[in-house]
Amino acid sequence: MSKIYGQGENQVNALDNVTFSIEKGEFVLIVGSSGSGKSTLLNMIGLLDRPTYGKIFIDGTDTTKLDDNKISSFRNNKLGFIFQFSNLLSDLTVLENVLLPRQIARTNNSAEEDAKKLLNAVGLENQMNKRANKISGGQAQRAAIARGLINSPSIVLADEPTGNLDSVTSEKIVQLMKTMAKELNQTFIVVTHDRQHFGDVDRVITIKDGHAFEGDLPSEVGVLV
Ligand SMILES: Nc1ncnc2c1ncn2[C@@H]1O[C@H](COP(=O)(O)OP(=O)(O)OP(=O)(O)O)[C@@H](O)[C@H]1O
Ligand SMILES: [Mg+2]
Repeated sequence: MSKIYGQGENQVNALDNVTFSIEKGEFVLIVGSSGSGKSTLLNMIGLLDRPTYGKIFIDGTDTTKLDDNKISSFRNNKLGFIFQFSNLLSDLTVLENVLLPRQIARTNNSAEEDAKKLLNAVGLENQMNKRANKISGGQAQRAAIARGLINSPSIVLADEPTGNLDSVTSEKIVQLMKTMAKELNQTFIVVTHDRQHFGDVDRVITIKDGHAFEGDLPSEVGVLV
């Protein structure tokens, strides 16, 4: 798939014929320098924007054929998101924040029980009734992970989930994501500048100038050109 932003002189080929497939349960890192196209790729897979050319299949569905209504419900039911800033709603409690995706997807059955289980798993059992603006950055990111998992999504997409955290907290959040992924056989696609914190993962995809390469690339500039 390809993504072109703008037109004429302002045209940017943000992704150029990117092709790969990811298996259920894989923990995949997307790495690459600033402006290489990582967030663009994540936004395409997350159905937040559409590719200019090409197709994206999720669980066998060609998502590029879905109309806007169907895209929204597909996104709410099949995808979980974790952002750089936890994006919790500050007026709601931690528990209420985690429950939101279930309310949006209207799958409220046993939602509270599921949310409490997840909050327990991310170590927030004693924080769940606090308002979201009364917890630390690391705790907020733990809550965001629970929120990203509450719909049992096919894929959890994370864009710089540790980008706003100190190194010690980052390490803990990385370990938590990896543990949750293993325990739940949950597919994760994570964009990060924090390659070394993630250590051993199932797979690394490097984006360079809108092209995708399998694996970690040597960092020397120009090695691929
Ligand atoms: N909405 C947009 N309109 C026009 N150009 C865009 C838009 N979003 C991104 N771009 C351009 O597309 C290219 C890829 O951007 P993208 O945000 O995907 O990079 P990135 O790898 O996520 O960078 P970073 O590591 O800094 O977050 C860049 O040249 C960027 O300027
Ligand atoms: Mg980005």
